[in-house]
Parts: sequence; C-alpha cells; structure tokens
Amino acid sequence: MTEPLNELDCLPADFLWGVATASYQIEGAVAEDGRSPSIWDTFSHTPGMVHRGDTGDVACDHYHRWREDIGIMERLGVDAYRFSVAWPRVVPGVDGKVNDAGLDFYDRLTDGLLAAGITPFPTLYHWDLPQVLQDRGGWPERETAERFAAYAGTVAERLGDRIQNWCTLNEPLCSSWIGHLEGRMAPGLTDITAAVRASYHLHLGHGLAVQAIRAAVPDAQVGIVNNLSPCEPASDSPEDHAAAVRADGHNNRWWLDPIHGRGYPQDMLDLYGVDLPEKPGDLATIATPLDWLGVNYYFRTVVADDPIGPLPNTRQVDPAGARHTGMDWEVHPNGLETLLMRLTEEYGVQRIFVTENGSAYPDVVRADGTVDDPERTRFLEEHLAACARALRKGAPLAGYFAWSLLDNFEWAYGYEKRFGLVHVDYETLRRTIKGSGHRYADLIQAHRARARRAA
Ligand code: IFM
Repeated sequence: MTEPLNELDCLPADFLWGVATASYQIEGAVAEDGRSPSIWDTFSHTPGMVHRGDTGDVACDHYHRWREDIGIMERLGVDAYRFSVAWPRVVPGVDGKVNDAGLDFYDRLTDGLLAAGITPFPTLYHWDLPQVLQDRGGWPERETAERFAAYAGTVAERLGDRIQNWCTLNEPLCSSWIGHLEGRMAPGLTDITAAVRASYHLHLGHGLAVQAIRAAVPDAQVGIVNNLSPCEPASDSPEDHAAAVRADGHNNRWWLDPIHGRGYPQDMLDLYGVDLPEKPGDLATIATPLDWLGVNYYFRTVVADDPIGPLPNTRQVDPAGARHTGMDWEVHPNGLETLLMRLTEEYGVQRIFVTENGSAYPDVVRADGTVDDPERTRFLEEHLAACARALRKGAPLAGYFAWSLLDNFEWAYGYEKRFGLVHVDYETLRRTIKGSGHRYADLIQAHRARARRAA
C-alpha cells in the first residue's frame, strides 16, 4: 500500500468508487448481432473527421473481452461501473423493432458485473444515435426524443429487475454544441438553429425517458450527466465579465436551468436568436425531478470578450502558469470543488455523482511492460481531494467515477489520447493496469479499511 491520502478521511463509508466508459469508445463489433451504424460510424469513416482516420470498428474489443474487463474492475476494487448502452444495438432500425441479440449483450454484462459485486450504472445515450434516425433529421426533430424514450423504456424493462441506477444522457452539451454548432463531433453540423433544437429535444427526450424508466422500474434512481465548467473572466474589464456570464450560460446554465424547472436562460435565448420548438407541457417534462445529478469535470473556462468570435462570442484564454494535460486542458482541481458547491447551494441538488473525471497523457510503456503515469496519478489525487473539500463543506457527493477504465477511442482525437487507468495496446488489445490504476485501487482499499475501523 502506498501513502494514504489523508484528505479523503471525510469520505462517507458508503462513498461509491467507480470507473466509466462508453459504448462506441470501447465495444468495437460494430456489425455484430444486428447492430446498425451510428452517427459515429458515419463520422469516423468520413475522411478528415477523426485523427489519422481512426474508427471505433474494433476499439478495445470490449464486446468480446467484457469478462476480462470485469476481472480488471475486480482487481481495481471498484464498487460501480458506468457504461453506456448502444442504441443501434437495441433498436437498430427505423421500424422501432427491438433487437434481442443486441440487448443480450447488456444482459450478460449486467449479470457478470453483479456476480463480481459491481453495481451497474448504465447510461442510455453516449452519442451513438442510430444513423437511420439521423437520416430522418436526428436530434433537431421531436421524433428523436420520442423514440429515445421508447428505447429507454425497452432497456429498463429488460434490465430493471437487476439495475436500479439509470442515467439518461451523457453530456448533451457535446451532442448539441460540438456536434451541431462546431461540427467537431457527429453529426458534424455547424448550424445554431439545429444546435438549439437538438439541445431542446435532447432535454425533452431525457424527461420522457425518466418517466419511461420509472414506469418500468418503480424503484429506479435516475439522473442525467452534464459536463460543466466554471467560467471566469480573463480580466477585470466589464466586457470580459460579460463574456464570462455568456460562457457560463452556454456551458452551464443552458444545461442546468431547464432540468431544474427554471426554463431556458433568457440571455442565451436572446444571444442565439432561435425559437424553441416548445409545445405545452414540455418544460414540465424536461424538469421531471431527478434522483441524482452527474457531473463530468475536466477543466475550467477562462474567457475574454470577442464580439466576432464563435458563440458565445468569447475567446478562450490560457491562464498564466497553468499546468495542462495531453489534451491541452488546464489542470484546475479547485474548479471541481467550485462546481460541486454551486450545484449544492444555487441549484439545491440533493445527490451528486462525479460521473467522469480524468486526464490524457502520452503514456510510455516501459521495457518490463509496466506503465508509470505520475501526472495522471497526481491529477486523480488532486481531484479526489477537491471532492473531499466540497464534501466537508456540505456537498451531497455520493461517489466518483474515474474516466476511464480503459484507454479508448477519444472521438475526433482517435486513439492518440489515452485517458485510461488501464493501458490498451491497440495491436494486441492487451490490457495493463497503469500506475494510476494501482493508486486508485490503493485509495479505494484505504477508504474501505478506514470505514471498517470507524464502524
Ligand atoms: O472521452 C470523453 C467522454 O466520452 C465524454 N466526456 C469527456 C471524455 C474525455 O474527453
């Protein structure tokens, strides 16, 4: 056992330790057992969209190696596994028919996890929309929200006898802003009207899905996962302050206000200049009360005013002296504490999970096959300490999921960026627990030992 991290002494005995992944990033097997192509198959196979032309065709081959991957989770000692269900495996066609062979995979995975004493935390949408639905307009169309709820209900009906914790969407900001406004993710559009409509229907689909899951699983604990980022002005100028308010609206309030019954922020509606495709009752559906909120945290956002810059008319500024990960993202653990406190104090959230947090660094495999990753280990420790500080100040933080269990397909960055606690050799698909993974396992063990002593 390495040095304990004393800051974590305040974590409650039932604090949940997890790891997270997503279907398209790890599964591979894109044409097996009736799966249809998703928008990410299309996007990654479009020349020029993904670094080096990488695709998720094989990824980590988790579809076939899931038993080995559960074994790795057991070695890490995690309590919970946050994975995502691939919609195009479960409902591949436009006819809405359920593909049992696709659902069977998640059935086997669920049973395997439970047998290993690991709690499954499925996410129903982590960006792999069936291409057949994109061909009918995708998220900018209301029909997609309705179809999402039907699919969510199907999965819940099948697995709800064994799964209590459900997550509807992962990071609707990325689906909407990066996928429909910036064009850097599938479906690759650059259209603010499509982006706003997509965000609205993602929210609507989320609300309808919460209701469908609860109808199928009465004791379900349902949440949504947002990627959030504290936004700060680059200077004291009023212009930069206003820019930070806009950045906050774009990155945080647009995603938090509607699900908390506050509607969409008026300043952002004015800025985007797009009418919402609202029908009576939608806002109440979107604000269907949740059991928990998931926060994905990677970096803070420091901005300057830029009237001709991309929406929200800001320019990102790199703070002096900042440390960076291999993604060029600033390492700023205090930002996580700030976020957790804001959710607690301003939004009154009653139960929070950090559903993703992690870092990419260019790992080196040593001659003896081990992977030492001190920068990722430090990132992990610093962010866990930030969680502990927020807990001490009263944040209802119930658990932490490290992103990611495995190195995987990092979207437009392909396989070049590695976020795993476990290294994947993409030639052989061999998995090797990195130093950070061993450290995570030690911290989990130390927490359990403390909890036992205190009992
Ligand atoms: O890999 C992604 C994940 O799919 C969503 N959250 C951020 C991670 C790192 O970029």
